[in-house]
Amino acid sequence: MPKKNNQGSGNFEMIAKTYHGLEDVLAKELLQLGAQDIKTLRRAVKFKGDLGFMYKANLSLRTAVRIIKPIKSFKVRNEDQLYEELRNIDWEQYMTIDDKFAVDSFVNSPYFNHSLYVALKTKDAIVDQFRDKCGMRPDVDLDQPNLRINIHITDETCTLSIDSSGKSLHKRGYRLETNEAPISEALAAGLILLSGWDKKSHFVDGMCGSGTFLVEAAMIGANIPANINRAHFAFQDWPDFDQELWDLIRSSQLKRATDCYGKIIGYDLNPETVASANVNIKNSGLEDYIEIHCANFFETTKPEGPTHLVFNPPYGVRIQGDIPEMYKQIGDTLKKNYSGSEAWFLTSHMEGLKHVGLRASRKIEIYQAKLECRFVKYEMYQGTKKMKKNPS
Ligand SMILES: C[S@@+](CC[C@H](N)C(=O)[O-])C[C@H]1O[C@@H](n2cnc3c(N)ncnc32)[C@H](O)[C@@H]1O
Repeated sequence: MPKKNNQGSGNFEMIAKTYHGLEDVLAKELLQLGAQDIKTLRRAVKFKGDLGFMYKANLSLRTAVRIIKPIKSFKVRNEDQLYEELRNIDWEQYMTIDDKFAVDSFVNSPYFNHSLYVALKTKDAIVDQFRDKCGMRPDVDLDQPNLRINIHITDETCTLSIDSSGKSLHKRGYRLETNEAPISEALAAGLILLSGWDKKSHFVDGMCGSGTFLVEAAMIGANIPANINRAHFAFQDWPDFDQELWDLIRSSQLKRATDCYGKIIGYDLNPETVASANVNIKNSGLEDYIEIHCANFFETTKPEGPTHLVFNPPYGVRIQGDIPEMYKQIGDTLKKNYSGSEAWFLTSHMEGLKHVGLRASRKIEIYQAKLECRFVKYEMYQGTKKMKKNPS
């Protein structure tokens, strides 16, 4: 079957999905990368760009978890109408008979009750079209499809999109080893960007687990594209994949890499966790920028020079323990050993936060899937705040 071009030329609309609380960070990343017509949505940002920009966005965005390309939007009130609309799409533009596909469906409509049934109808329309045209049907593969189709029905508006990313973009490719409660790579990068780290101060993660904040900080510090270690993106399976353009985008994005100034330092109590973090850091190729120590954060001190801390301590969800006492010790350590620096941490343990004993200067609501969290900022002034303003 001949392969066809599904993009056309010029700009088209795309939607990058992210976490609740990171929409503005993602919009800023898109602006810096050169996207057009940027509009912030709920857990997503809409924008326009061309084929090369779609490759660049998948490669470089730190806070997106997937990028989808809407291909058709229509009004629909029942399953038969839906089936007809979907059969009228020329699916050969997007896949061949040999490709495997999957359908994700999201339904919020009085006309459709079951998102799974919508996904089944979509699959039927595609399979029936191929069977009618060439007597054979393409297979479904939910785990590793060549084409992932996204169908979204809100009220009576149905939007059909194709997914240019494939596996979630938080799967960067460097983290093969995890501890009990690793944070998503895209969320970690988003929190570092949200914290306003200036890339020059030392970066410290006092409870680094598998090392996610450390690797993401090193990539941000050295301006390395977030997904440079990733083996595959869905758009590479699309009929119009342009290898030359992709090679050009990759090399031009890599040319923008710089040195990482400030030290990037991680501590963790658990020797096995430190060993896995070291494996991940090696996989990322950023070991020259990161140092990691098996140590109790409560016994560490601030490195010489301006220091910025970002970490997620145990919340008591997947890792148990006396959380209020631990958070009190975090506050004491920050006060005594890290004066003159600023610290941010993410937690879902709202009660624990009351025991930190420092006044938070910012609190941002973040969701990790359905888990409500706070990203909290503490500024440890040298002396009191009053003294800083008026030394006399
Ligand atoms: C929620 S996990 C951090 C996850 C990490 N951000 C990642 O992506 O894998 C919390 C970590 O804190 C470590 N930890 C707990 N108490 C500590 C302490 N007093 N000093 C250093 N590490 C500690 C645990 O061993 C665990 O690895």
